[in-house]
Amino acid sequence: MADQYAQSGEDKSTGIPAIRWDEPPEGPVVVLLDQTRLPAEEVELVCTDAPALVEAIRSLAVRGAPLLGIAGAYGVALAAARGFDVEEAAVALAGARPTAVNLSVGVRRARSAYDAALARGAGAEQAAEAALAAARQLHREDAEASARMAEHGLALLGELLPGGGHRILTHCNTGSLVSGGEGTAFAVALAAQRAGQLRRLWVDETRPLLQGARLTAYEAARSGMAYTLLTDNAAGSLFAAGEVDAVLIGADRIAADGSVANKVGSYPLAVLARYHHVPFIVVAPVTTVDPETPNGASIEVEQRAGYEVTEVAAPNVPVTGAGGGVPVAPLGTQAYNPAFDVTPPELVTAIVTEEGVVSPVTAEALAEMCDRSRGV
Ligand code: MRU
Repeated sequence: MADQYAQSGEDKSTGIPAIRWDEPPEGPVVVLLDQTRLPAEEVELVCTDAPALVEAIRSLAVRGAPLLGIAGAYGVALAAARGFDVEEAAVALAGARPTAVNLSVGVRRARSAYDAALARGAGAEQAAEAALAAARQLHREDAEASARMAEHGLALLGELLPGGGHRILTHCNTGSLVSGGEGTAFAVALAAQRAGQLRRLWVDETRPLLQGARLTAYEAARSGMAYTLLTDNAAGSLFAAGEVDAVLIGADRIAADGSVANKVGSYPLAVLARYHHVPFIVVAPVTTVDPETPNGASIEVEQRAGYEVTEVAAPNVPVTGAGGGVPVAPLGTQAYNPAFDVTPPELVTAIVTEEGVVSPVTAEALAEMCDRSRGV
């Protein structure tokens, strides 16, 4: 399957867009590619109201920081277009998951556009159109940011690893399944592949919900990449064998001091990378930087249900299906299941955004980049 796409140079990393707005005769809907069913089947999930979207966010049918922002914005637009309580929908959507700051940023963008239209004297219908326009704009901006991150990330790889032939380790899932474009860290790997500089993408399986095995391997295969899947705890021996040239990951929230919250298992990779003198690079849009969160300790880390650890998914059962998986621990076992961890800035070689590269990672350099992005 991989070779089928290898020569095209075109992004084939998903068959169906991760999210889209549609207006069938029954009324507007937000249509998601249900990521809990991948890679077994490409099934769309149609959300007709904000509560359905909230449930899709909680169950990870739609996930990944930039896409959560887009989903939040479309969710507000959906509530407005269907005449539901926009305030109530916005609060529920923004609170559906706590760690990825993009979710509340997206909700706020659409909500502000809606409120501003009403304040100008627009009717409910026009205000709903304003919310939808804001969601569409955010969707487009994310695609553009993705392309720019890929350019900056590729240039950085060239500087840090002048020999080319990169062997890149990644964690979780950061491609077109999380973005309006080709993603964050995965978009950089794709750019390296197109430039003939990617020797191998090492894909951490990403326990417990297997975003690496199910989603990144799916995107890598469709893009024709040379990739290899490993268990998260095999990363140490891979570094020790000298097989990793760089780590590329995304982020769910970057605090003002440069601390990076990302999928649990990212911090151990940063420690390994430092020990083995390998660059640890974070790729994220500016919307993931949260100046309101001063440091890593202030980032709320989502704690998820224990069954995600005590069970593994059964064939054809969505991986988040409570009670639907196969138990792998004695009944009643308690589980520690944080969805994210926090990497301190001193372990991060560089943060790549659409605005450029921040390295070394300091509060001042990040603030300067955010100001530049706002045109300050
Ligand atoms: O729990 P998830 O699957 O939403 O977690 C996603 C991640 O941790 C990604 O690495 C992160 O959102 C960056 S995606 C650009």
